[in-house]
Amino acid sequence: MADLSIDFCGIQSPNPFWVASGPPANTAYQADRAFEAGWGGTVWKTIGDPIINTSSRYSALNIGSQRMVGFNNIELISDRAPETNFREIAEVKKRWPAHTVIASLMTDTRENWHDYMKRSLDSGADGVELNFGCPHGMCERGMGSAVGQNPDVIEAIVGWVMEVAEIPVIVKLTPNITDVTYAARAAAKAGADAISLINTINSITQVNLDSFVPEPYVDGMSSHGGYCGPAVKPIALNMLQSCASDPDVSVPISGIGGIGQWRDAAEFLALGATSLQVCTAIMHYGFRIVEDMKEGLNDYLDSKGFASVAELTGKAVASLAKWETLNLNYHRVAEIDYDSCIGCNLCYVACEDGAHQCIDLVDPEGRGLGPGRVPEKAIPQVRAVDCVGCNLCALVCPVDDCITMTAVDRGRDPMSWKQYQEKLASGTMKPIPAHP
Ligand SMILES: Cc1cc2nc3c(=O)[nH]c(=O)nc-3n(C[C@H](O)[C@H](O)[C@H](O)COP(=O)(O)O)c2cc1C
Ligand code: SF4
Ligand code: SF4
Repeated sequence: MADLSIDFCGIQSPNPFWVASGPPANTAYQADRAFEAGWGGTVWKTIGDPIINTSSRYSALNIGSQRMVGFNNIELISDRAPETNFREIAEVKKRWPAHTVIASLMTDTRENWHDYMKRSLDSGADGVELNFGCPHGMCERGMGSAVGQNPDVIEAIVGWVMEVAEIPVIVKLTPNITDVTYAARAAAKAGADAISLINTINSITQVNLDSFVPEPYVDGMSSHGGYCGPAVKPIALNMLQSCASDPDVSVPISGIGGIGQWRDAAEFLALGATSLQVCTAIMHYGFRIVEDMKEGLNDYLDSKGFASVAELTGKAVASLAKWETLNLNYHRVAEIDYDSCIGCNLCYVACEDGAHQCIDLVDPEGRGLGPGRVPEKAIPQVRAVDCVGCNLCALVCPVDDCITMTAVDRGRDPMSWKQYQEKLASGTMKPIPAHP
């Protein structure tokens, strides 16, 4: 049984799974239910001057029968009074001393930041998260992503906060920026103890083609909303790795964005996250999902011989490098397992129309049939010599592990684009001829 407990910039938590700041982290009642279900921490719904929300406020991208592949909201921060939120944080901390409670904060002036920091400390919160990410409504008032998009402003505000900070400070970053590492570096430079990412991504998920109003609908109008859920995971992982590999960031990272299963969690940890936060998956399936996530992560750690979550953290960070360093002489080809192939020929169509025309349809005896002759029994056959190893057929194949990409040795020494350019410049190599 692996040790799931974590130390996140000095904050101890029984496991890395935290409820992210959002609707499931709005009240003491929800924090109690989350901890009873097994969550290790909760990041309170952002506390600030109470706001007024619109009705409606959510929309989603559904694909086929899968609901909420992507989720969009135009909700603002907490609509409850700060004193109510801080009182409830204190109550929850008293009931759950070993669990993590983070106060998420958003305000404006130096004086107000100092005031909110003091109230967070008094409430017994284990740390604070500065919300520099909200991409709607609050940014129009000079807060949220308006701060997160400007490294100088991040540095200034984190500086104010650090003047009075007695508990760890996490800076939550916006993905609505060209290069998130500039924002992360500014936070680290100003003394933040940790960063968290990502908040939601600007988006429009649906347009009603009768009323011509996008969702969510508010009295004949809509507004750009923040996108989250499974669809944003690749974007979050990319930003996470960028920050985790940047020597000028070097603070712990709380990973957020599309986490809903243990495998997502393991991937975020491997790419450099120390703690994990979940919002949309809880809104979709409830607090109970943490049971499977904990069990799955534990089984995975055991299967790899990792004694703790910390041993997985960052394992994959160094496996990403600039494209120019990749080995151009590495080669893979597609191989079909005919025992599991169901003969749908999706691989043939994909390679023929969308890739490199190197899957033939042949009759079972292996005689080529050619275009226009596709009898029922034709089966796909990869011409290995022409396969460029792009992966497309394996990705479209509906049967797991039916097409595998197998490395083939073509007898060439490893050579990156960078090395190729150096060899050309030094005259030790002639240009490789282009494909016909
Ligand atoms: C309806 C809704 C409200 C949210 N409110 C907040 C908030 O008040 N403060 C904050 O920092 N993030 C807020 N978020 C962003 C989440 O904390 C999280 O960063 C984002 O949803 C990505 O994680 P997910 O894919 O697990 O949902 C909200 C998200 C949603 C869906
Ligand atoms: S896509 Fe997969 S299952 Fe379908 S024909 Fe190709 S290999 Fe067989
Ligand atoms: S890997 Fe790409 S090129 Fe090779 S057979 Fe599949 S689709 Fe065609």
